[in-house]
Amino acid sequence: MVILCVYLLLKVVVVKVSDAIKNRRSVNAFDPSYQVTAAEVHELIEAANLSPSAFNAQHWRFVWLQDKDLLEQAKAAAWYQPQVTDASLVLLVCLDVKAWQKEPQRYWVNAPKDVADSMISNSQQIYANNAQLQRDEGMRSASMASMALMLKAQEMGLDSCAMACDEQKMAELVKLPDDHAICMLLAIGKRMDAPYPRPGLVTVDDVLLENSF
Ligand SMILES: Cc1cc2nc3c(=O)[nH]c(=O)nc-3n(C[C@H](O)[C@H](O)[C@H](O)COP(=O)(O)O)c2cc1C
Repeated sequence: MVILCVYLLLKVVVVKVSDAIKNRRSVNAFDPSYQVTAAEVHELIEAANLSPSAFNAQHWRFVWLQDKDLLEQAKAAAWYQPQVTDASLVLLVCLDVKAWQKEPQRYWVNAPKDVADSMISNSQQIYANNAQLQRDEGMRSASMASMALMLKAQEMGLDSCAMACDEQKMAELVKLPDDHAICMLLAIGKRMDAPYPRPGLVTVDDVLLENSF
């Protein structure tokens, strides 16, 4: 009993965010026999739902690809990358480009009324007539949620791979609504092999600029 308690305690506290960041790698070979439970999928999505989003519009939508035929077609739309059929969980991360217009009151139910009113009014003004900004902000928000998913997966002892796909083909497969867009495909599961060394990292000096370019 004591050993079980110590094990559970360690399991809860052992994964630091910095470890999850360091250990996350893009996996190409997943164990096809490994299965995730519906409860684990729920836990992953619950974590993703806590991600930041522009005007709290929570634009992300996750299409859980489960049907075998659909997965085969999705694999073809992802240039036959094996992760699509081998991973335990395959999510097409989409975004509702018009989330800001759809009952925005629900994004502010717990906020003071003056804050809610001002946020809603500002968002409607800022996004109106700016299709590019609507899409950009949704894409930023869905990308944040994707990273949260990958780090949460890491905490749960799972691996992941962010993937590109032929968006037009994928949109047809999942019957993507006209006012939605595709952010990325995410494969999650157990990796088969140890990761190869990181292929090449830029340095802090390469990417950190002071005040301007
Ligand atoms: C937007 C995006 C698209 C990607 N597309 C693919 C992909 O189609 N297939 C793949 O194996 N990896 C894909 N990757 C993973 C990158 O290749 C990987 O992140 C990069 O090589 C660094 O390796 P690491 O993630 O293991 O650190 C993608 C990553 C991002 C962010």
